[in-house]
Amino acid sequence: MTRHDDPFVRYLRSKEAVDDRALHRPTLADLGDRLEEHAESNPGEPLRVVSVGAGTGAMCRRLLSWGVFDAHDDIKYVMVDRRKGMADQAAKEFAKWSHAAGWAAVPTKDGFRIERHGRRVSLTYVTSDLFDAMSALPKAIDLVIAHAVFDLLPLRRAVDSLVSRLVAGGYLYAPITFDGRTAFGPPHDADDDILDAYHETMRDGDSAGPDTGSALLSVLPEFGADIVSAGGSDWVVHPEHDDHERIFLDRILGFVEQSVGDVDSVDDDELKRWLATRHRQLEFGELSYIAHNIDILSQLD
Ligand SMILES: C[S@@+](CC[C@H](N)C(=O)[O-])C[C@H]1O[C@@H](n2cnc3c(N)ncnc32)[C@H](O)[C@@H]1O
Repeated sequence: MTRHDDPFVRYLRSKEAVDDRALHRPTLADLGDRLEEHAESNPGEPLRVVSVGAGTGAMCRRLLSWGVFDAHDDIKYVMVDRRKGMADQAAKEFAKWSHAAGWAAVPTKDGFRIERHGRRVSLTYVTSDLFDAMSALPKAIDLVIAHAVFDLLPLRRAVDSLVSRLVAGGYLYAPITFDGRTAFGPPHDADDDILDAYHETMRDGDSAGPDTGSALLSVLPEFGADIVSAGGSDWVVHPEHDDHERIFLDRILGFVEQSVGDVDSVDDDELKRWLATRHRQLEFGELSYIAHNIDILSQLD
């Protein structure tokens, strides 16, 4: 891990419990049911999963812990993230988690093999841009997971790339996809200026932007991936905060500062005043925060 990654990795760790609460359970249950049917109709075959923008692999640990893959005895799970140092950090998190969860873990050249009660999961970490990684993979993926990442990507190109490596009938699961609304409380007179500017910065370059969740609902079918389940997965954090929520909120305020700090239309003093108030509210346990996200499960025709 590089020093540069520390705050981001801490943010990802702090985000885990917020995501746990937020994930849209009917969509997740549908994914579990469909994977069970997949196991029944492909006996003896491994489940092949690729997770892009995987960070430290929190979603893989969660899906294993929550039993979503329980119908499969053999899982090949590839995690792709372009951020250097993330693979080492993921290895640390998996080592800790597998020990606590009773999986026997054997390190491999590029990840881990974990086993428990006759079930095997091979975990491979690839440090690469996802577009390069996907084009190097065979068209043999049963499930692609894009967790909290689509808003950072050029939408159509990303959907095309991720869907292109799915087998017929394969799934694309996009949980915690940001969809256009951020709110902090208590209300502040600069909220509209700051948060409108914050959302506008998400349109930078070719990234999918603030309305990614809604856009995905119409873009996926254009690429042959029908929406089979979807629902809201809003982050809602309110007082009293635990330690993870304090770190999480501090990082979210950091993201607003970083992005809006470069925007000409927002006065520096107004931003400073808003941030000072929000940090004070965080310190005194008064801050609330909502971000609207959508979870989507789609299936290739
Ligand atoms: C908000 S984080 C989410 C991490 C993880 N999915 C989670 O929610 O815990 C987005 C991740 O996507 C990665 N990422 C962004 N664009 C990427 C790209 N083009 N290729 C590979 N990884 C990318 C970032 O490095 C970052 O780790």
